[in-house]
Order: sequence, then C-alpha cells, then structure tokens
Amino acid sequence: NKPYIYVTRKLPESVISRLNNFAEVGMWNREETPVPRNILLNEAKKADALLTMLSEKVDTELFEVSTNLKVVANLAVGFDNIDVEEATKRKIVVCNTPDVLTDTTADLAFSLLLMTGRRLVEAVDVVRNGEWKSWSPYFLAGSDIHHKTLGIVGMGSIGEAVAKRALGFDMQVLYHNRNRKPETETKLGVEYASFNKLIEQSDYVLVLTPLTKETKGMFTKDVFKKMKKSAFFINVARGPIAVESDLIWALKEGEIAGAGLDVFDQEPISQDHPLLQLDNVVALPHIGSASVETRTAMMKLCCDNILAVLNNEKPKTPVNKDLFQKI
Ligand code: GLV
Ligand code: GLV
Repeated sequence: NKPYIYVTRKLPESVISRLNNFAEVGMWNREETPVPRNILLNEAKKADALLTMLSEKVDTELFEVSTNLKVVANLAVGFDNIDVEEATKRKIVVCNTPDVLTDTTADLAFSLLLMTGRRLVEAVDVVRNGEWKSWSPYFLAGSDIHHKTLGIVGMGSIGEAVAKRALGFDMQVLYHNRNRKPETETKLGVEYASFNKLIEQSDYVLVLTPLTKETKGMFTKDVFKKMKKSAFFINVARGPIAVESDLIWALKEGEIAGAGLDVFDQEPISQDHPLLQLDNVVALPHIGSASVETRTAMMKLCCDNILAVLNNEKPKTPVNKDLFQKI
C-alpha cells in the first residue's frame, strides 16, 4: 500500500515527479488560488504527508481528521500557519525551507529598503504618467542609504545576509535578537542593541523575526513614536508583527518617514487598502523568496523532507527537532 501525499498547490511536474515513484500524489489543480478548506480537510483524511503553502491553516481541526499524517512540509521558512505544538504532541513532523532562501530574501529586503529610501516607485510612476517636467533640485529627493544606520530586528541567517549587503553600502548595522550573537558581531562588525536603542537610533528599521506570540503586535504607536521622524519601517517578515492600524497612524501623522512592506495583516490586500493611499508606502505582494531558482529549491527541499520522513529517516530541515532526539 503506497503512502498518499497531498500537495496543496499546483507545482511543476518536473519537481514533483520524484514523489510518484514512492507514493500516490494528489495535488490541488490551481497555481494562483489556494485549496478550499473543505477539500484540504478531505484530502488530509487520507494523507500520510502534506506539502503546504503559507496560505493553509494547519491546525487542530486538520490534525483531528488526518489520522495517517506523518509530515507537513511547508513551502516557506516561516511556519506561523502551522500549530507546531499540536503537531509535536501527535508526533507529526513539521518541516520548513530555511537556508535555500536566505540570500534571495536578503536581496529582496535590501531592494525594498533602497526602493523606499530613494522613492523609486514614485519616481517610476512619475515617468510613466508623463509627469516628468524638468530636472529640479529637490525633485523626488529621497533619503540616503549609505552611511545611515540599519537596525535589524531578528538576526537569523537572513539578517546576517542583509547585514553583509548593508555593510557594502557603508551602513552602520545594529541588531536586536533574543540571543546575542557574539560570533556574528565579530565576523560582520554589527552591533547588538536593546530594542529601544535600535528603534531610537536606526534610520531604517528592518523586521525579520518570525511571527510568534512574543513578536505579534511588537510595533505599536509607542514604538513608532520612538523612531526618528526621518526613519523608515521595512517589514519582510509577517504583517501582524506590527499593529497595522498603528503603522497607518504613524505614517499619516509623520511619526516615521515611510514604510516598505512585503507583508500585511490580511493577504492579499486590495487596491483600496489604507496603506496604498499613502505615497510614502512601497507595497510588494509577499515575494521575499520569489526567484525561480529559489522557489524551485524550496520545492525540492519539501520533497526531500517528505521522502525522508516516509522512509523513517531524519528530514533535512525539521522544525520540531525534539521529535528526533527521542528516536
Ligand atoms: C515567506 O514568507 C516564508 O516564510 O518563506
Ligand atoms: C545628476 O544627474 C547630476 O548630474 O547631478
């Protein structure tokens, strides 16, 4: 009896075909629309493995019906869409896709910082809309990047990769993290700062923490008020780490100079979203790891992880590592 793997989005045959040798594979047949909840629950009933996107909620309700489930491989480094504690209780392995997306996500984070500071989206729009009338001294004048202070909140491998890019621009880099990282400080020349110091001194505050109970709502009115009025808030992690209404308030009141956002409370956002009414907001549609090379590598890693678990081997990148220490 072959195991059953359900893939919650249409992924290329060329990547997925490896799974066919080993298992029966079911797949949601749309690339751009998430699988409806009822179909997901129905598939989960018979699945030994799920390959999920961050648009799927993998929670107790799902675990209750999926009595054969052994592994959930999420096509993302973040896994706030999965109740990992509940999965661990049930000895279900949860895997994510770290490392393979580090540099790609750092590229995007730094691009967004450049776009926001130098007002590149406004500038492109001006040219496209025929509004470029002349050269003038302060026309679309933005803020410098070089020699400014970047504050990285959440110093994992993506944070380190962004720091390297920032140092190439002669930025000063502060970081805040649950654990201080002396080796990173020595290796890169970045400086640890308390959250308050980082917020107060940075010209660019970049959020890279995972979304957890501790980081949810970390950026409030109070925090935005403490930031420099000339500072920019850049979020490529998860929307709910900032209180979105407080961010909108800070942008409208001029408490901060602008925001570059790849993530939002509720995704996707629509055209009439309040953030899109502001010129000093650069909004991207959650594309941090979106290069063809990296997305393909992430899919392969998900397949590796699933095949490992179904073969009773340790997967490459489990989230609930505790499960393996006991085996
Ligand atoms: C994307 O947001 C990811 O977590 O990989
Ligand atoms: C800008 O193009 C300049 O020449 O200053």
